[in-house]
Amino acid sequence: MVNEQNNDFVVTPWEVHGKIDYNRLMEKFGTSPITEDLLERIRRHAGDLHFMLRRGIFFTHRDMDWILDEFEKGNKFHLYTGRGPSDHTHLGHLVPWVFTKWLQDKFDAKLIFQLTDDEKFLFKEELELSDTYSYALDNALDVIALGFDPNKTEIYIDTDNAKTFYKLALPIAKKITFSTVKASFGFDNSMNIGSIFYTSIQAVPAILESVKQGKNIPCLIPHAIDQDPHFRVARDVLPKLGFYKPGNIQCQFIPGLSGPESKMSASDPTETIFVTDTPKSVKNKIIKYAFSGGQATIKEHRELGGNPDIDVSFQWLKLLFEPDDQKLKKIEEDYRTGDLLTGDLKNILIEKANEFLIHHRKEREKAKDKLDRFLVKD
Ligand code: TRP
Repeated sequence: MVNEQNNDFVVTPWEVHGKIDYNRLMEKFGTSPITEDLLERIRRHAGDLHFMLRRGIFFTHRDMDWILDEFEKGNKFHLYTGRGPSDHTHLGHLVPWVFTKWLQDKFDAKLIFQLTDDEKFLFKEELELSDTYSYALDNALDVIALGFDPNKTEIYIDTDNAKTFYKLALPIAKKITFSTVKASFGFDNSMNIGSIFYTSIQAVPAILESVKQGKNIPCLIPHAIDQDPHFRVARDVLPKLGFYKPGNIQCQFIPGLSGPESKMSASDPTETIFVTDTPKSVKNKIIKYAFSGGQATIKEHRELGGNPDIDVSFQWLKLLFEPDDQKLKKIEEDYRTGDLLTGDLKNILIEKANEFLIHHRKEREKAKDKLDRFLVKD
């Protein structure tokens, strides 16, 4: 847990707040920066670089170079990512999934997607298992809507796969002590005992493919940096059971509407845009709540210019909605010089976000008929 008095921020899988210093976080967690060399290697295999790599949104990794070493030897990796289904999907969730889809396409990789209805039941006081299960089905539609290849993608809801998962979680759990869990996640004695066991369940999809195929298959996990403590524990334990350590490639958070230091969180609807929000609601939320890096008056803005680094509308264009670097650069420059007003910038975002979401919801509807092709049950 990173929580120090000077420069206060907290990042655990269950809590993220404060002004996050990503360089310090990387140091604390012990992950490696994504260097120019590594980017070049990825580009060589993929043919191009995803904008989330070009812009440093995916900024750190564990063993990505090893994943590529193996790939170059013909030992292909599979992908693993997931989602804790505590609510409808919001824009923040889409960032790592869009990137994962790109990796699947470029590296022809199988994806295992875990929906942890058990986790969200255990960690959210107010949720029943039936709630988290129905959110799992709902969230699965959003995963499918992004266009993952049905022949190369398996979605696992934990409680639908209890037999497989429990058997594989047990040997992992046996190698994790309570004090490791306390230190890794900042738990105290008041935590329920399901929460303490849970990390072993999140480790299972990293070995599932190896178990199925009866030989070790490298696993690459794209995810937001807050999940790192789980995988640090998994990387420690899995080699003791004869498996490879999974590799990780990790991204920053998407800010909530209220400012660059907030995090989009489903529990606060004024911070958050859900994929199911209507175009009108998207527009209203952005106009009303999106934190602006602009000046107080139009006159001042024209004179002094705005600050895109703290402007949430600009950040969302950068993180998700404007993949074209040239277009983004023009918006950034025009905002800095004051040519572009906050209202103009918000309108660009509203249009882009709605265009994306209208398409997404169409695909989401179609996904209802595809669920059976993706969901695995034991
Ligand atoms: N614990 C994650 C969450 O709360 C869900 C999850 C499970 C996950 N397995 C994962 C996220 C693998 C990223 C990668 O959202």
